[in-house]
Amino acid sequence: MVKVYTIASGKGGTGKTTVTANLGPMLARYGKKTCILDADVGMANLGLILGLEDLPVTLHEVLAGKARVRDATYDGPFGVKVVPCGLSLQGFQQSNPDRLKDVMTDLVSEFDVLILDAPAGISRDGVIPLTIADGVILVVNPEISSIVDAIKTKILTETVGGHVEGAIINRVVGSGDEFNRAQMEKLLGVRVLGIIPEDPNVRRASAGRSPIVVKYPMSEASKAFKRLSADIGGIEYVEDAAPVVREGFVDRLARALFRAKA
Ligand SMILES: Nc1ncnc2c1ncn2[C@@H]1O[C@H](COP(=O)(O)OP(=O)(O)OP(=O)(O)O)[C@@H](O)[C@H]1O
Ligand SMILES: [Mg+2]
Repeated sequence: MVKVYTIASGKGGTGKTTVTANLGPMLARYGKKTCILDADVGMANLGLILGLEDLPVTLHEVLAGKARVRDATYDGPFGVKVVPCGLSLQGFQQSNPDRLKDVMTDLVSEFDVLILDAPAGISRDGVIPLTIADGVILVVNPEISSIVDAIKTKILTETVGGHVEGAIINRVVGSGDEFNRAQMEKLLGVRVLGIIPEDPNVRRASAGRSPIVVKYPMSEASKAFKRLSADIGGIEYVEDAAPVVREGFVDRLARALFRAKA
């Protein structure tokens, strides 16, 4: 049975696209047939951070009724499939968000997991992804404005007949002024599925057009993304071994000198 998740937030910039771009590849790596779609049709950037831009066919053309979704599906890291959106305003104007449901129907037979990266806010193209998911996952920063907007998104989801699966707390620094897991669960009224730390490698990886789990797999945020993906995929999490660091010149020299003395 396919599982459709929508990654939503309410407030902009909380980390929805980052979560989608890391959760999708990790689920694929854990053996789930996974497709990630950029449902942020107005301000698309999932393709940008995965090195998929300037493509002839995207979700824009599909939502405009000019192409089929299989023609807008591209290969991403670890075998994940990606349906990016175009960047042009014209493409956005021509796309009809109501077609998204038909797009999902076309994909359900081919995948175990479909993940929609939703736009911020509560516009029409933002509400549709909330209604078509089996589970909405809220990406929340541990601060009051983000929490309040996430609560509104939760209420909106339930109002339109959707279901909120849980929340991911992103960009956690660990300072005393942040809301903790228990407080977040109490305020949001949903389970916290995972906690992702603030990690400068997230931005660095995006600049290199790659998700952090691919570019910096041993970084703290990557470890958290791997644990979260295993939990969501129902897979036992085993931490990867640290990569073997190749011996440098100084080490080799010291070893040679030591051996000579012995
Ligand atoms: N855990 C993290 N540590 C450090 N930086 C992060 C982290 N998560 C996200 N960011 C950075 O925060 C910014 C916003 O992230 P992202 O684009 O994923 O948010 P979004 O919710 O998709 O935004 P929008 O609402 O505009 O679609 C990006 O510059 C990203 O690199
Ligand atoms: Mg985004």
